[in-house]
Amino acid sequence: MFKLYIISTNMNIGLIGSGGREHALCLKLFQSNSPKKIFCFPGNAGTANIATNIEVDILNFNKVFKLIKFYKIDIVIIGPEEPLVKGLVNFLNKKKVKVFGPNKYASKLEGSKAFMKNLCKANKIPTANFKICSSINHVKDFLKTSNFPIVVKADGLAAGKGVTICKNKRTVLDISGEIFKGKFKSSKKVVLEEFLMGEEASYFLVVDRNSFKFFGSAQDHKRVGEKDRGPNTGGMGAYSPAPIVSKVVENKIIERIVKPTLNALKKKKQFYKGFLYVGLMIKNNDPYLIEYNVRMGDPECQVILPRLKTDFLSIVKNTINDNLKNIKIKWRKQKSMTIVLCSKGYPGKYKKNQKIKNLNNVKLKKNNFIFHAGTKRIQKNIYSIGGRVLNVTSVGNNLLKVRKDIIKIIEKINWRAGFFRKDIGWKIIDKNENN
Ligand code: AMP
Ligand code: GLY
Repeated sequence: MFKLYIISTNMNIGLIGSGGREHALCLKLFQSNSPKKIFCFPGNAGTANIATNIEVDILNFNKVFKLIKFYKIDIVIIGPEEPLVKGLVNFLNKKKVKVFGPNKYASKLEGSKAFMKNLCKANKIPTANFKICSSINHVKDFLKTSNFPIVVKADGLAAGKGVTICKNKRTVLDISGEIFKGKFKSSKKVVLEEFLMGEEASYFLVVDRNSFKFFGSAQDHKRVGEKDRGPNTGGMGAYSPAPIVSKVVENKIIERIVKPTLNALKKKKQFYKGFLYVGLMIKNNDPYLIEYNVRMGDPECQVILPRLKTDFLSIVKNTINDNLKNIKIKWRKQKSMTIVLCSKGYPGKYKKNQKIKNLNNVKLKKNNFIFHAGTKRIQKNIYSIGGRVLNVTSVGNNLLKVRKDIIKIIEKINWRAGFFRKDIGWKIIDKNENN
């Protein structure tokens, strides 16, 4: 008699980042059927419950690599843009570490708006008219022929603070002047753009050397105030899917934007690997590229992943092995929403280290999730350490009901040092009561 032994090799996974996005990624990895151990570099109070958090500066690549060796990590998934743009993938690949994420060249799609706009121009990808400026005289030239508003953008990474919509000449000159003086360390170039009207949507893909697959759509709310007023933030809430991305629009996104972009990289013998976030303005059913991000969105990830049915770790492994075309990615039909609970004062000044007392007492149903962002745990207590602190997500058939469920949970948390928007999804919920 033969005995059949099934050898299950335990895989060690390294997840880089510490936001709500990474908690959502971590939970999906945790729920995977494959045996594994997850290490978060550095993670947050939420990931600490399902993985091992390792304190490290994620931009110190040597340190990160030493820890990867020490913990015998088999694959690394990179959540945020900064290590991607700074070349962590190239650094780790050289050391024979397998990584899910784009390399330094491909990450310029997010890391340099000038690179992205030039690529669009060379490949006839629909986007706002623009001029790349390296002096105030270039700016003045553009002003001679363009109408207001004008969008002024810092070329390099600017932690979400690099874009200003300007209604007059003075503001364009002032904001450009600050960027030329080095307000953002990443680059002193300015990109001026025509203002696009329409409805925004985020469209996501997972990409490997040979193919790409749809990875959800979402709409987020960037402004701090209700009815989308007030200053921009990292995102106050989101819902998925984005109804504006119809099949017709999706085909145009793929044919006019995604394929020409990936082909342009291939022509340079460069390949994309990982998540690709296509930030769009949609006008009369025509998509225009506003921006690329080389990662999942935050908070979009926290609404997209709860709808994913396919084993996430298997998607990651197949992407790393350039095998994406052999898997089918399946989604729940239901809708999801997340509301971000922020520290009072955000996106301006806010207090840190505020205890979130009731968090441990909140009981969640199967379709509800609390993803941590700016939190830390000290003994059994959770404290805030950032502007965006928790993401409360719920999945269901009706967005109005989903939103009510989320607000009930936030009310149970009853965190006095926090605030949140009660109107996430207002445009589609008000338009269609059945949503
Ligand atoms: P970005 O960092 O490029 O995504 O810009 C941040 C936000 O500014 C976008 O989500 C849009 O709401 C807005 N924005 C950027 N570029 C344009 C544009 N050309 N026309 C209209 N709005 C824009
Ligand atoms: N939610 C916008 C972003 O992730 O950039």
